Amino acid sequence: MKNISFNFGEDLVPFYIGTNCLAQLATIIKQFKFDQLFIGFDDHSKFYHGARFLNILDQNSIPYSTCVIPPGENNKTLENLDYILCTFIQKGCTRQSIIIPFGGGIVGNIFGLAAGLLYRGIRLIHFPTTFLAVHDSVTSQKQAINYLSYKNTVGLFHLPTAVIHDTSVLTTLDEKNIKSGLGELVKNAILFGDEFYDVLINQLNCHKDLKFSSAAFEELVISGINAKNRLLKHDAREKNTGIVFEYGHTIGHAIELSCPHNSLSHGEAVAIGMLAASCVANKMGIMSDEDRAKHDQLIEKIHPRLPILDKDIFLAVWNRVLHDNKRGYVPTEKGIICMILAKRIGELHQPNLYYLEAVPEEIVAQAIRYVLGKTSSGLQHNTPYQVVLGDAGVRGCDRLSL
Ligand SMILES: NC(=O)c1ccc[n+]([C@@H]2O[C@H](COP(=O)([O-])OP(=O)(O)OC[C@H]3O[C@@H](n4cnc5c(N)ncnc54)[C@H](O)[C@@H]3O)[C@@H](O)[C@H]2O)c1
Repeated sequence: MKNISFNFGEDLVPFYIGTNCLAQLATIIKQFKFDQLFIGFDDHSKFYHGARFLNILDQNSIPYSTCVIPPGENNKTLENLDYILCTFIQKGCTRQSIIIPFGGGIVGNIFGLAAGLLYRGIRLIHFPTTFLAVHDSVTSQKQAINYLSYKNTVGLFHLPTAVIHDTSVLTTLDEKNIKSGLGELVKNAILFGDEFYDVLINQLNCHKDLKFSSAAFEELVISGINAKNRLLKHDAREKNTGIVFEYGHTIGHAIELSCPHNSLSHGEAVAIGMLAASCVANKMGIMSDEDRAKHDQLIEKIHPRLPILDKDIFLAVWNRVLHDNKRGYVPTEKGIICMILAKRIGELHQPNLYYLEAVPEEIVAQAIRYVLGKTSSGLQHNTPYQVVLGDAGVRGCDRLSL
């Protein structure tokens, strides 16, 4: 097992990672003094790996209580937060207790928020179980729930005491969640190049079917953490330089929100957004044909594809791009959309402090059309979307908390 500590500014957070190392993780947990652990699951993380984890705690005579929420973005709610707080308080949670969210980004966010609120903040040790959460959401102090149909509106910053992870839990993820984690890793490889590119391209060449072993996951996760660490060291709350992690998001996020609920993962949407960004950069003379080919070849290795749609989503995507939340960072004129663009792998285009280039709307529209065509899986007729009440707003009005 390794400790790959990472920084939030001056704060160093230990990150214990290994393969089939649950027993060793229990020994690590014991070193933190506490009266009781409070473990948060969703139904899936509990079903796949909960028994194994709790057995190890039992074998080590570690006292714990649990709380399980249903899976899915629709459950990152005030009602579930209330349920978690009530459960933990009634089960004897004190200032000496530690909360361990054992799950994906949703479990991490809502139980992380509970840790930040209980007694004005108790210790939080993340145990991420998705590929996205393990290198993306846990390397953030942001804890939040969705509220009044807006995503991540109610929350706070809460520093984790540690992160613990056993990569064997990732082997039960489906392809959609693997691609979601990969999309963010591809973004890191493009932002930083160097060894981040080499590690990823090597693993993708060795695992063309995207079925990674626990050891391969470990190498990818460590690479992802090291990439984020480059910026978190100087921008602990992701307020300034953190904006570069928004590469691929302007169009990618708009596409994600315009697809039927839960049909396209966040990371895959970002991958499609990066194909659009390179199209824009190339049209504006910022990225050469050769550099674009190398950039796009990396992305293509994770096979980003739109779900089968029952209508053209261009207008829905376009309207969301027009309201992208990066507006306001730099003054813009009418007819201009701000985008983060790359020159080549390992080098972002930096026209200003915020890396935001003013792109004419016409070029953005062409890039959207291009990626929608390129990544299309086809149109399916006579299959109306199932609209889940109360959910459209969460997805439609997502605001990134930069
Ligand atoms: N705080 C941040 O900065 C930050 C960063 C990135 C994402 N997020 C948040 O994270 C959330 C998305 O996280 P996510 O992609 O992990 O989604 P998720 O938590 O919904 O997990 C995806 C699915 O995988 C299931 N699952 C979890 N572990 C599993 C396992 N080992 N095997 C099989 N299935 C498993 C979950 O139950 C769920 O159905 C969003 O709400 C997003 O806002 C936050």
